[in-house]
Amino acid sequence: MVSPSSSLLLATLLSLQAARVAAQLPLPTQPFLPPSPDFGATPSTGSSLPNPHWSTLLGNGLFFYEAQRSGRLPSTNRVSWRNDSCINDGQDVNLDLSGGYYDAGNFIKATFPLSFSIMQICWGAIDHGNGRYDISNQTAYLDDMLRWGLGWLIKAHPSPNTLFVQVDSGDADNAYWGGDRGIPQNRPSYQINDTNPGTDAAALAAAAFASCSSLYSGRSFTSYSSPASLRNTSYASALLEHAQQLYSFAVNAKGGQMTYQTSVPVVKNSYPSSGYGDDLTIAALWLGLAQNDSTLISQAKGYYDQFQLDAQLKDSVFNWDSVLPGIPILATQIHQSYPQLGGNDWQSRAEAYFDRVVSGKGAGKLTKGGLLYYDQASELASLNPALNAAMLLRRYAAIATSTDKRDTYLQFAKNQIDYFLGKNPMSVPYVVGTNPNSPRNPHSAMASGGNDITNINTSPPVEAYTLYGAVVGGPDKRDKYYDLRDDWPQTEVAVDYNAPLLTLAAMHVMNDTTDPFYTSLKAGAYATKKPSGHPCDPVYSCTPSLSTGAKIAIAVVVTVVGLVIIGGIVFLVVRYRRGKRLASSAQDPKF
Ligand SMILES: *[C@@H]1O[C@H](CO)[C@@H](O)[C@H](O)[C@H]1NC(C)=O
Ligand SMILES: *[C@@H]1O[C@H](CO)[C@@H](O)[C@H](O)[C@H]1NC(C)=O
Ligand SMILES: *[C@@H]1O[C@H](CO)[C@@H](O)[C@H](O)[C@H]1NC(C)=O
Ligand SMILES: *[C@@H]1O[C@H](CO)[C@@H](O)[C@H](O)[C@H]1NC(C)=O
Ligand SMILES: *[C@@H]1O[C@H](CO)[C@@H](O)[C@H](O)[C@H]1NC(C)=O
Ligand SMILES: *[C@@H]1O[C@H](CO)[C@@H](O)[C@H](O)[C@H]1NC(C)=O
Repeated sequence: MVSPSSSLLLATLLSLQAARVAAQLPLPTQPFLPPSPDFGATPSTGSSLPNPHWSTLLGNGLFFYEAQRSGRLPSTNRVSWRNDSCINDGQDVNLDLSGGYYDAGNFIKATFPLSFSIMQICWGAIDHGNGRYDISNQTAYLDDMLRWGLGWLIKAHPSPNTLFVQVDSGDADNAYWGGDRGIPQNRPSYQINDTNPGTDAAALAAAAFASCSSLYSGRSFTSYSSPASLRNTSYASALLEHAQQLYSFAVNAKGGQMTYQTSVPVVKNSYPSSGYGDDLTIAALWLGLAQNDSTLISQAKGYYDQFQLDAQLKDSVFNWDSVLPGIPILATQIHQSYPQLGGNDWQSRAEAYFDRVVSGKGAGKLTKGGLLYYDQASELASLNPALNAAMLLRRYAAIATSTDKRDTYLQFAKNQIDYFLGKNPMSVPYVVGTNPNSPRNPHSAMASGGNDITNINTSPPVEAYTLYGAVVGGPDKRDKYYDLRDDWPQTEVAVDYNAPLLTLAAMHVMNDTTDPFYTSLKAGAYATKKPSGHPCDPVYSCTPSLSTGAKIAIAVVVTVVGLVIIGGIVFLVVRYRRGKRLASSAQDPKF
C-alpha cells in the first residue's frame, strides 16, 4: 500500500514525465489558439504568404487532435475544457496503455485508423512540411501531435509480436454519452500476437512508424523537403525499430496471415478490415524508403501482384481500410527521388487511376453540387473519400507526365477543396469553428457537454464547447447537411477525417495567396439554406411521410416484389458490414 503523500508524489512525477515526452521542439511561449469563427468571415487584405486563413486552418486542424487526447494531459495543454482521462488504460494487462487519441465522437482508442492517420500526416509533412508547417509556426505543434500518437503506439507495441489494437469501455460504451470525467473505467485492452495475429493492423502500424521515421530522419521527395527542425536521428531509429519488428510480425507470425478481426472479433463493431494485401504493400514501400533498401521495394511489388491488387485499384478509395490508391503514388515518389531503390513501374498506374477519377468514368461520381461521391464508401462520411482524393491529386500533380494532366488534377482537387470549404449548396465550410456558417453540432460526446443519451440533439440546446478544427462526416448524397448531433454519418468527427485537412492546408499555406472560399460567405448563409425535414442516411429513414393512397400503392408493390427485395437486402447488408464503420445503435456508431 502506498501512502497518500507518496502516491501524490508519484502522480506529480508522472505528470512531469508526460509533459516532457510530448513535444521535443519547444512550443511557442505564446501558444497558437484558434481565433473566433468571425475571423474566417474577414477576407484578408493582401497577397502575403502565408495567407493568414490557410495558416489558421492548418493550426486549427492540429488543434483538433489536442482536443482528442486521452490520458494525463501535459502542462502545455491548450484545450481549456479537457481533463485527464482514462489514466488507467492497460491495467487489465498490467501495462500502461494510457495516452493516445480518442478515435472519434466517443471514447474508443483504435490502433488501425490511428496508424492510417499518422502515416498520412507524416507523408504530408515529408512532402509539404518544409516551408509550409514552418512558415505557419506550426512545426512544433506537428511534432507534438505526432509524438503524442507515436508515443502511444510505442506503448501499444510492448514486445516484437504483440500489438494492442483497441482499448474501449466495453459494453458500457453503448450506454455512456457524457464528458471526459465520467467515462466508464472498466476498459478492456485487445491485442494481436504471435498465435492470434492481424496482418493488416501490424502492417499498417509498421507503415506509420516507417513513414514517420523517414520524416524524422529527413528523407524528402523531389522538389520538396521535410522540416529540418524535426530531424532527430535517435528518434528516427527508435521508430524504425518498431516498424521493422511490426513488419516482421505481420509477415512471419506463427499463427499465419489473417485480418485482425479474425483474432479480435470485437473490432467488427468498429474498424474491421477488408483485406491485408494493401497494408503489406504500403508497409514494404515505407520501410524500403526508411531503410534505403531496394529489396523491400521489390517485395512491395511482389505483394501487389500476389494479392492481385491491380484489379482492385481502379475503383478503390483511399481510407483507413484501403490504402491501395496511395501505393502507386508513393512508389512513384520514392522512385523519382531515390532511383537506386528501383520501383520504376508505377507511374502509369498512378495516372490511369487518377484519369478515371477526374473523368467521372470510375465508381466516384459528382453530386449535383460537385462533391466526389462513391456509393458505398461515401455513405458514412461523404467528405472523406473526396478529401483524400484531392490530397492525393495535389500531391501527385507536381510529378505528372504532362502539363495537361497536372492542370486537370489540380483543377479537380481545387473544386473538391472549394466544395469542402463552403462553395456548396449549403454554404457550409465543413470545419468546426472556422466560420460563422461552420457546423455547430459535431457528434462528439466531450464537446456536446450533454449526458442525456436519449436527447442528444437538444440536451444541451447549444453545444457546450467549440471543437475547433474538426472535419465532420459531411453532407448526404443530395448535398444536404442537417447539423444534427445524433446523425453521426454527417456530424461525427474522427482522427482519420482530419488527416487530409492537415496536408491540404499545408499545401496551400505556401503557394496560395488567395483566401479559402469561406471568407466570402455571408453570415447566416447556412441558416437560409438549412433543409427542412430530416436527413436521408443510415441513421434516419429516407422515407418521407406519405398519404394513405400512396401507402396502399406501395403496399401492393411491396407484396409483389417483397421476396426479391429481401434477398437483395440480405446481400447488401452482408457487403455493408464488411470493411466499414457500422452502427449497432442509432445514438452511437461504435457500440
Ligand atoms: C510566426 O512567428 C513569428 C515570430 O514570432 C511572427 O512574426 C509571425 O507573424 C508568425 N507567423 C504566423 C503565420 O503566425
Ligand atoms: C472537465 O472538467 C470540468 C470541471 O469539472 C468540466 O466542467 C468539463 O465539462 C470537463 N470536460 C469534459 C470534456 O468533460
Ligand atoms: C493473444 O491474443 C489473443 C487474441 O486477442 C488473446 O486471446 C490471447 O490471450 C493472447 N495471448 C496472450 C499470451 O496474451
Ligand atoms: C530526439 O528525440 C529523443 C527521443 O524522443 C529525445 O530524447 C531527444 O531529446 C531528441 N533530441 C533533440 C535534439 O531534440
Ligand atoms: C542508399 O543506398 C545506396 C546504394 O545502396 C547508397 O549509394 C546511398 O548512399 C544510400 N543512401 C542513404 C541516404 O543511405
Ligand atoms: C508551390 O511552391 C513551390 C515553391 O515555391 C514550387 O516549387 C511549386 O511548384 C509550387 N506548386 C504549385 C502547385 O504551384
